Amino acid sequence: MDMESVLVTGANRGIGLEFVKQLINLSKPPRLLFATYRDRSNIQALETIRDSSQQTQILLIKMDVTKTKEIEDARKIVEDMVGDKGLDLLINNAGVLKFETFPEITEDNMLLHFSTNTVGPVMVLKELFPLLKKSAAHKTTEASVSRTIVLNISSIGGSIGGMSVENPDGWLHAFGYRTSKAALNMAMRVVALTVKDSGILVVNLCPGWVKTDMGTDEAELEVTESVSAIMKTLSQLNESHHGTFIDRNGNTIVF
Ligand SMILES: NC(=O)c1ccc[n+]([C@@H]2O[C@H](COP(=O)([O-])OP(=O)(O)OC[C@H]3O[C@@H](n4cnc5c(N)ncnc54)[C@H](OP(=O)(O)O)[C@@H]3O)[C@@H](O)[C@H]2O)c1
Repeated sequence: MDMESVLVTGANRGIGLEFVKQLINLSKPPRLLFATYRDRSNIQALETIRDSSQQTQILLIKMDVTKTKEIEDARKIVEDMVGDKGLDLLINNAGVLKFETFPEITEDNMLLHFSTNTVGPVMVLKELFPLLKKSAAHKTTEASVSRTIVLNISSIGGSIGGMSVENPDGWLHAFGYRTSKAALNMAMRVVALTVKDSGILVVNLCPGWVKTDMGTDEAELEVTESVSAIMKTLSQLNESHHGTFIDRNGNTIVF
């Protein structure tokens, strides 16, 4: 992968933190890595990685994806650092899951999921879009290694077509989460089709069921396993993946 600059949201733990670890250990790591968090009391792991990073300058940026001002402030920091080269890779990773089922589901629960998992990633992308366009304008080859990419960490739980009426998968109590991820998939597909000539690849990806605070210890995959598969897939993304929904290995998931 040939990425000079990357921004990862929700980078202080779980999948986001693992992205930071694996990105800086690439044979050709990014020069700049913007790792966002929302609570300063929760960034010790990130600070340790930042302080020992050799080749990559890691900037820790406070950004709650539901707060417009924090998104704007983050963009200013990124803009100052990347200059005319723009931002090469945005990983919209931050997300939330709070179980509530129907009919107990509350408006608050649904709005929490929508604001964090759907509206947040769209607003982060909207704010960073000019910087992504600058990056795309510098890319001259079709080769995936040098594409400008928006990677949205979605969930197979947001797949409507993948849900069987006869044999539901048991996650019906993730009502707000699933609806917000289905909406994220649609939002990013619309974005992808809208910006199809911009040179920016927009991809929705499910990391699998991963052992994190969200995924719990019951999950199938270690976080290292999931993220290394995603990193491999990321390095192979091309035009055919634009606007699609894929799993960590690059296989298509039905919307
Ligand atoms: N784990 C799985 O099995 C699984 C499966 C499918 C999809 N995913 C997706 O993968 C992504 C990462 O999940 P994870 O398993 O790593 O979850 P996690 O361990 O619970 O971490 C979630 C991350 O998102 C951040 N976050 C939550 N709300 C935020 C907000 N409003 N603004 C900014 N950051 C916010 C958290 O920050 P704080 O520390 O401040 O809370 C944390 O860094 C999510 O989008 C999730 O939906 C996970």
